[in-house]
Amino acid sequence: MQNDSILILGLETSCDDTAAAVVRRHHDGRAEILANEIWTDHDDHAEFGGIVPEIAARSHVERIDHTVRRALTAADQSPADLTAIAATAGPGLLGGVMVGLTAGKAIALTHNKPLLAINHLEGHALSARMTEEIDYPFLLLLVSGGHTQLIAVHDLGHYERLGTTIDDAAGEAFDKTAKLLGLGQPGGPKIEAAAMRGDQTRFAFPLPLAKRAGVDFSFSGLKTAVREAADAITNPTITDVADIASSFQRAAARHLSTQSAKAMEAWPHCGSKTFVIAGGVAANKTLRAAIEAECAERDWRLCVPPAQYCTDNAAMIAWAGAERVAADLIPDQKEMLAFAPRARWPMAPPPQGAEIGSGKKGPKA
Ligand code: KG4
Ligand code: ZN
Repeated sequence: MQNDSILILGLETSCDDTAAAVVRRHHDGRAEILANEIWTDHDDHAEFGGIVPEIAARSHVERIDHTVRRALTAADQSPADLTAIAATAGPGLLGGVMVGLTAGKAIALTHNKPLLAINHLEGHALSARMTEEIDYPFLLLLVSGGHTQLIAVHDLGHYERLGTTIDDAAGEAFDKTAKLLGLGQPGGPKIEAAAMRGDQTRFAFPLPLAKRAGVDFSFSGLKTAVREAADAITNPTITDVADIASSFQRAAARHLSTQSAKAMEAWPHCGSKTFVIAGGVAANKTLRAAIEAECAERDWRLCVPPAQYCTDNAAMIAWAGAERVAADLIPDQKEMLAFAPRARWPMAPPPQGAEIGSGKKGPKA
């Protein structure tokens, strides 16, 4: 397979975005994103203050066919041109995953093409290899709405978890803080926008897990500190809200970059000094700058995909499929067609002896 170009249709429906993409992997390993369609309607969920799984699943059903058609048209390709179809099979909201995976199975069966059931987290993990030339191994900070993990990416399919959150995920912390401050959803971009007008030094929020060994994460103490700061102000002004948002963002970025720096120090394969950030929170500029500073200090290369490939998208799912096809990892098709959607699907095993993180988990944990 390695000498041919590979053309993949990717489907992504694990949360509230209905997405389809067509990606070509050239024989030299270069990616060409021919189409990247995404349909998001935050208004569907706005009055409920968060994503409602049933509403998301119903929207996916209504939109998936149209989104796939748009992607193929934009890419100027027909299903017959495809090498394979790659669909997110988990982790995520079960009803949504089911829609994309079932659509993938139907397209694969109808056009007699192989199907690849892709782990959404692997999609995020490999997304930077789609937009930049990055060799294995590398160190990855995966920060999304449901996950916050430091992972040693040894090779395709060979992932080792170095640290994870013991309570909330980073994106969840941004979303909850935005909700508390009345900024709307999704919280990350709202906090980032409000923070631009704020004073990041006004509130000295604590650095989580400062005295604990290892590279785990925690956001619950930070969340409490933010709530206490907000409660202490009667009738907060726009400036107060901006100052809290800015101080929170700085504290979250400091926590993520401090643990990332510790992981760089402990990285067992010092031959590769490449650090990748992926997942929705990687779109945050303050976080990027904080980790860039840690990388610069240690002479590490930092790679972050452009924002549209950090947040959920189908191009990264297509790309994960393309990498698997290129490595001759096309699974048994009977197994694929029987593959059940997974609400939970860890990508990387925890280190030996480590306990699975406790506390409240995001929908994708
Ligand atoms: O990867 P993603 O699109 O979906 C999941 O797999 O969870 O990540 C969504 C998360 C949300 O919590 C959202 O608030 C956060 O990423 N996010 C951001 C930014 N853009 C999205 N967080 C901080 N700053 C941003 N600019
Ligand atoms: Zn995601």
